[in-house]
Amino acid sequence: MNKLKNDLFLRALKGENVKRPPVWVMRQAGRYLPDFMVLKNKYDFFTRCQTPELATKITMMPIDQIGFDAAIIFSDILVVPQAMGIKVEMKPNFGPFIESPIKNNSDIEKLDILNVEERTDYVFEAIKMTKQALNNSIPLIGFAGSPWTILCYIVQGSGSKNFNTVKNFCFKNPELAHLLLKKITKATISYLSKKIKSGVDVVQLFDSWGGVLSHSDYQIFSFPYIKEIIDALDQSIPKIIYAKGCWHSLTNYSKIGVSAIGIDWSCSARNARYLTGNRVSLQGNFDPSRLFSSKEEIKTLTIQMLNEFGKEKYIANLGHGILPETPVENVKTFVSTVKEFY
Ligand code: CP3
Repeated sequence: MNKLKNDLFLRALKGENVKRPPVWVMRQAGRYLPDFMVLKNKYDFFTRCQTPELATKITMMPIDQIGFDAAIIFSDILVVPQAMGIKVEMKPNFGPFIESPIKNNSDIEKLDILNVEERTDYVFEAIKMTKQALNNSIPLIGFAGSPWTILCYIVQGSGSKNFNTVKNFCFKNPELAHLLLKKITKATISYLSKKIKSGVDVVQLFDSWGGVLSHSDYQIFSFPYIKEIIDALDQSIPKIIYAKGCWHSLTNYSKIGVSAIGIDWSCSARNARYLTGNRVSLQGNFDPSRLFSSKEEIKTLTIQMLNEFGKEKYIANLGHGILPETPVENVKTFVSTVKEFY
């Protein structure tokens, strides 16, 4: 790997000394940027994902316009089930929609996990193109959904507040649930391995719906599959796990070889440090809704967050994805406050 001009993010992930914490935000490519909205009105969602030139352009927007310390490739967690043969649509003002969700064994049997890499070739092209555009300035993050979070969408067929139907399915048919989780895990391992080969510097797993499970069911349906993915990937690549609402598993996650753990805003820095015993770096946890507050408040709250987490082993970020319609100026205030923190 060529030396990066700005390696703050990689240094923070390794727990090395930094002059200030690095900063990026989850879902930074899109949603709130006016230039993104122009492309969004012109091309449908999967066209944007599947056209490497467009994905590269969108990935670079927040880098050029806001100045984050890391880029995240523009794509979606649902490209993996799509490559397994599930028809996934992204409906405007609704979100993901799957006409024929997974219901039984034969639906699971039909899923193809052998050709996932081939069918997501456009992602690897976008990674290579984005690496060129970045020109060794900052690191590039590749990502995937956790097997549990992917299962939630492909069994429910859409988003949901609590995924109760999905939980019901899993508790009634645990063998089927595990069969499905195993298939998603295998597909995700080959997908992320290819992302690493294509040039991403870091990978992050999103367990956005881990928090709908009880702490004990989490150990059955989510944690083991995430661990399997972490174990299977190239040891030299830093890995980040973001599991929303899963503070119960912070200690477990700090012991499986990840470099950092994402923290949501419900958990204090002090609690997160205590539970992870300084074994890993922490990433988070500004409440995305707070980016709608006044600039003065954003500044005060950001400084408070920085003081609570401390400068070392820390990556400034939000506690979940940035919200649509967040004022760009406020994002800039958040970023410049971190950059001025020595
Ligand atoms: O920085 C980035 O934006 C990188 C790209 C990115 C997208 N999705 C693009 C996207 C990333 C990292 C994701 C991850 C993702 N996708 C997650 C995990 C992170 C999280 O927020 O919890 C989840 C759960 C999804 C599934 C998904 N995709 C949903 C629920 C939706 C609809 C609601 C929404 O806007 O998030 C999507 C659509 C989607 N993925 C959009 C974008 C920019 C918006 C639709 C559009 O642009 O047409």
